[in-house]
Amino acid sequence: MTQADPRDTRGRVTRPAGPLLCLETSCDDTSAAVVNGREVLSSIVSSQNELHAQFGGVVPEVASRRHTELVNEVVAEALSTAGVGWDELAGVATTQGPGLIGALLVGLAAAKAIAYRRRLPLVPVNHLQGHIAANYALAVEAPFVCLVASGGHTLLAVIERGVEYRVAARTMDDAAGEAFDKGARLLGLGYPGGRELDELAAAGDPSYARFPRAVARGRDFSFSGLKTALLYDLKGRDEAEIEAHRADIAASYQAAIVNQLVEKTLACAAAEGLRRVAVAGGVAANSGLRRALTARSEAEGLELSLPPLGLCTDNAAMIGLAAGFLPAVPWPDYLALDAFASDSEARAARPKKSRRPAASEPPGRRTRR
Ligand code: KG4
Ligand code: ZN
Repeated sequence: MTQADPRDTRGRVTRPAGPLLCLETSCDDTSAAVVNGREVLSSIVSSQNELHAQFGGVVPEVASRRHTELVNEVVAEALSTAGVGWDELAGVATTQGPGLIGALLVGLAAAKAIAYRRRLPLVPVNHLQGHIAANYALAVEAPFVCLVASGGHTLLAVIERGVEYRVAARTMDDAAGEAFDKGARLLGLGYPGGRELDELAAAGDPSYARFPRAVARGRDFSFSGLKTALLYDLKGRDEAEIEAHRADIAASYQAAIVNQLVEKTLACAAAEGLRRVAVAGGVAANSGLRRALTARSEAEGLELSLPPLGLCTDNAAMIGLAAGFLPAVPWPDYLALDAFASDSEARAARPKKSRRPAASEPPGRRTRR
């Protein structure tokens, strides 16, 4: 810790200055990164996709066990790739939620153990704030509208400053990632499906099949009707036709999802009077979405932030980028932190204020209270 570190009234570090070791294990990717401010020094992601493909979805218990097997290895690789030693770390950051509770607990426990052992502060980060913060690897500055589209969430966030946001619109049913994954399954593609559908769509004609375009009314998204439309479209075709036109159908289906995402995002920016637009989450890796947003933003004279693909899908670097805007919990108070599965549980997971010094605190700290 340097003299420049901001400290709370007890002299404890609340905003660590220097490299942070970051962890993200909220779903099925075991990820660690080293981030210093807005600079990503390393980002390691070990995907469990192959493990879960046989079940057609993430099996929470299997994911948790795999995280415990991989976490130390991934942390070691993140440090060595960054060329940062244990003694150079200024703090640890980890996803606290939302996500799969068992999976989150593995990352949180590892982060607590590392931070406690090295007497470092710990920054608990909300996964969605992490996705949004991926944009801070680029030159973007708040305020901006961010389309957050992943496997579990789809919403339009108005970022007022740092990673503080207000939800301007959300999905009324499925998340955009779910629409991609369920569509991919109906088309007989691989798991989880979004990327596979994207690749297949690249060779297809988006005007081949007709799917409902952006729902005109309201700010919110809806994808469940689209998925049903694909199901009935496929039922109306014979096997040979599907076989010959799988790429065209995929391209048409993707275009309908993209159209809704793009139009609602631009409408939100206009309604909010904002000229900066950003994207986040796994679906932000979609090539059709990136192309359409680029074209429409140019036409409308909007500034667009498109994070690199590796910062769109789940990764620990985005957690570190968000941590730069959030207060750290000082050593060793974070030992009381809990993970939370959904946003509504976040409040209950906040650390309780300890009224007397923890027995494990070093004498130096105890005298300052
Ligand atoms: O953000 P993420 O990695 O995890 C969650 O927080 O959910 O997002 C995963 C989702 C999955 O539904 C996946 O199929 C989708 O993002 N995805 C894509 C692409 N890459 C990942 N969807 C469409 N096109 C892609 N290239
Ligand atoms: Zn995510």
